[in-house]
Amino acid sequence: MTIVRRTFLGGAAAAVLTTFTTFTTFTTFATLATFATLAASGVASAAKPLVMGFSQVGAESEWRTANTRSIKDAARQAGVKLKFADAQQKQENQVKAIRSFIAQRVDVIAFSPVVESGWETVLREARNAKIPVILTDRAVNTADKTLYTTFIGSDFVEEGRRAGRWLVAHAAKTPERKLNIVELQGTVGSAPALDRQKGFAEAIAGNAKLKIVRSQTGDFTRAKGKEVMEAFLKAHGKAINVLYAHNDDMAIGAIQAIEEAGLKPGKDIVIISIDGVKGAFEAMIAGKLNVTVECSPLLGPQLMQVARDVVAGKPVPKRIVTEEGVFPAEVAAKEYPNRKY
Ligand code: AHR
Repeated sequence: MTIVRRTFLGGAAAAVLTTFTTFTTFTTFATLATFATLAASGVASAAKPLVMGFSQVGAESEWRTANTRSIKDAARQAGVKLKFADAQQKQENQVKAIRSFIAQRVDVIAFSPVVESGWETVLREARNAKIPVILTDRAVNTADKTLYTTFIGSDFVEEGRRAGRWLVAHAAKTPERKLNIVELQGTVGSAPALDRQKGFAEAIAGNAKLKIVRSQTGDFTRAKGKEVMEAFLKAHGKAINVLYAHNDDMAIGAIQAIEEAGLKPGKDIVIISIDGVKGAFEAMIAGKLNVTVECSPLLGPQLMQVARDVVAGKPVPKRIVTEEGVFPAEVAAKEYPNRKY
C-alpha cells in the first residue's frame, strides 16, 4: 500500500509531501547499506506458527500503550504466537524475560531496550542458542553489532534536532532578548533521552538568545513530569520561557504544574514535546502546547513482517528508520482526526 501524507515542518514553513510504502499506517525507509546475515535457527513451518518472545519497556506513556497495542494486534493478524512480557521500566526484568524466551526456544526474540548499555551477555546467550534478536523502538550500544539482526525504530537524534529547529525559528520571531529553557528528559540512560538531548542541543547551539537553565529526568511519565516541573517553577518561576519535554506525557504533566502555578502553558511558557499522541493534539487545540515532534509507535505490522523474513533466513536491512513529521499547534485541529494513536 502506498500512502501520501502531509508533513508539517517548523510552523508556517512549507508542507512537504512524502510518499512512502509501508505495511501499516506509517512508513519506513531502510538504510540499505548493511544487510544482516542470519543465523539459521528453527524456521517455523507452515503448520507451526512462528513464536516470538517480546520484552516491552513498560506502560509508562500513551506512546507505549499504543506501541503495545500495535504489536499485539499485528501478531494476532499475522498468526504469530506472541509471548509478551512487561518489564516495568527495569532492565533486570528484560534480561530475565529474554533468558526465559531462550529457555522456551522461541523462534525469534524482539525487545525495546529500556536503557542502551549492559546487553552483551544476554545477547550472546541468545546468539549461542541460535535465536535471532530484533530491536524495536530503542537501540543498544554494544560494540558488536552482530549481536542483533536488525533495529526498527525512529531516529531520536533527528527528533531532538526537529524540536530545536522549531524553537530557533520561533525565537527569531519573538521580541525577547533571551529565552530560558527548562528540559524534561526521558529515562536516564535510555536511547531516546540521550539522543533527543543531543539533537536539541545541536540544533540550538550558537544561538545567543537560547539558554538551557535546567535539565532533569521525568522518566517519560506524566506524574514525574508534573513533579519536576513544579521544582523548576519553584527555582526559576516566571524566568522560564520555554519547556522542552522529551515526550508528550511529561509535557502534559508539566502543563498541569504550570496552570497550578497560575501561569498559562503555551503562552507564558512555550512548550515543545515529542511523540504526537492524541493527548498532545488535544493540548495544542486547547492552546496549551505549541508543537509536537512525531515519533510513531505503530511498529507492530513491520516487526511481524521482518520477523518472518529473519526466521525464513531472508536478508533484512540492519537499520529500518521510521519516517515522521512535525506538528505545530496551527495544524492540530486539522490533523487530529487523522491521528491513529
Ligand atoms: O522510546 C520511545 C519513547 O518511550 C517515547 O517517546 C516515550 O513516550 C516512551 O515512553
